[in-house]
Amino acid sequence: MFEPRTIIEPFRVKMVEPLPRRTREQRAAALRRARLNLFALPADEVTIDLMTDSGTGAMSQGQWAAMLQGDESYAGARSFYRFERTVRALTGLRHIIPTHQGRAAERILFSIVGRKGLAVPANTHFDTTRANVEHSGCEALDFVIPEGLDPQSEHPFKGNVDVPRLGHWLEHNAGRVPLMVVTVTNNSGGGQPVSIENLRAVKALLARHKIPLFLDCARFAENAWFIRQRENDYAHRSPREIAHEMFRLADGAMMSAKKDAFGNIGGFLALNDDALATECRNLLILTEGFPTYGGLAGRDLEALAVGLDEILDERYLEYRIASTRYVWEHLAAAGIPLMRPPGGHAVYLDARRFLPHVPPELLPGQALSIALFLEAGVRSVEIGTVMFGRTRPDGKQQPAVLDLVRLAIPRRVYTQSHMDYVIEAVQYIWRHRERLGGLGIASEPPALRHFTCAFEPVGWDPLAELERTEHGQGHLAQLPPHRAAPSSRG
Ligand code: F0G
Repeated sequence: MFEPRTIIEPFRVKMVEPLPRRTREQRAAALRRARLNLFALPADEVTIDLMTDSGTGAMSQGQWAAMLQGDESYAGARSFYRFERTVRALTGLRHIIPTHQGRAAERILFSIVGRKGLAVPANTHFDTTRANVEHSGCEALDFVIPEGLDPQSEHPFKGNVDVPRLGHWLEHNAGRVPLMVVTVTNNSGGGQPVSIENLRAVKALLARHKIPLFLDCARFAENAWFIRQRENDYAHRSPREIAHEMFRLADGAMMSAKKDAFGNIGGFLALNDDALATECRNLLILTEGFPTYGGLAGRDLEALAVGLDEILDERYLEYRIASTRYVWEHLAAAGIPLMRPPGGHAVYLDARRFLPHVPPELLPGQALSIALFLEAGVRSVEIGTVMFGRTRPDGKQQPAVLDLVRLAIPRRVYTQSHMDYVIEAVQYIWRHRERLGGLGIASEPPALRHFTCAFEPVGWDPLAELERTEHGQGHLAQLPPHRAAPSSRG
């Protein structure tokens, strides 16, 4: 019997989109215009875009077909009821409130439950979640297990909450906690999963203090797949059963449906508390739209309802997690420092160990992501000091806990040869890593600075050639050595 080892894409291609190809010179010019911020690049400059898996997935024929049935009625649209039925069946939660994306759900929720003096614990808050919690005046605190902060740890559930530490903290702080958030999978911690066992323990602890548990469930299906693979007793349960089990422990959920709902746009807030739901709907009307569309078109709601079913397909999840692992394994085999083990939606380069001569204050993650774009047209995103650090009063950077570069893989978009190209590109930068230096922040906004800040190189020229060819007449010898000038450790 033919028992293939190859896990194939469980779809074939029906429509294609040309891939932008640019020269290195064009990319250098684009980077200069963008002031070295990859968020400021026109996407047409990017050949393989791994900046995010959010809203970048390919929709299926089932989703496109459903869109033609979108009911665009202002109130009571058929598409809303279909969406509501699907989300309710998945989460078991009573009130289903559509929003235009995840952060809209966060803003609505936290502007109601949050205020100065209160605190919202999480495993790790995603950046928009943290910003919305803090915008309400609340403190946003992270309680991920210590292994979750150690890129080398092979713990199977590095997204887990440190329950003893949370319990200890709650003894003195429970009175100022309106709710807790558990992010599945834990995006800011490397796309690492949370186990059912941990969710149960968190739920039991919170229940003792009468604190509701909310899931930030953007990647719930990937989390369910990891549970099936790694947690005792779940190997024979379907991803849908496991997802039910996860949501059964929650009092509410926020979702960016741009991830595990195959949506290009969309999100929701789901909860059981009647009074809170009424308040949320009232605020929704003020800022997003009437509660049966929440800032989305009826056709979007149709696509999301179909996507939320498709995402739980076992063959899809098997392929999805295997394809992320494929990239991870090839990079790991080349000795490239990575966040271990491979996560769900992304491979994370450990920029501090990739560029040990660039101290965290000089933003090694940003330097690495710029080099990857410049040399290969691969766009990634820094998840480190730029995103989570801050500028101290003395003008220096306060480093984040980790400096990672995320290669996020859009769903059903790129093929294995695209990924082989990415692997080759990262290996090329790895071979020439000593030529990379550090960066400073030239200007920044008051919050979520990574989106719009401008960078300046410190003591090197990031746009100079790394090397013209690997084996031919390289420019390497003619260039002065580029090292991060002021505080280089190398
Ligand atoms: N929660 C998590 C865990 C997320 O990853 C995101 C978005 C959000 C909430 C906010 O959702 O973008 O729909 O408003 N993450 C994207 C990313 C942007 O690239 O990881 P949104």
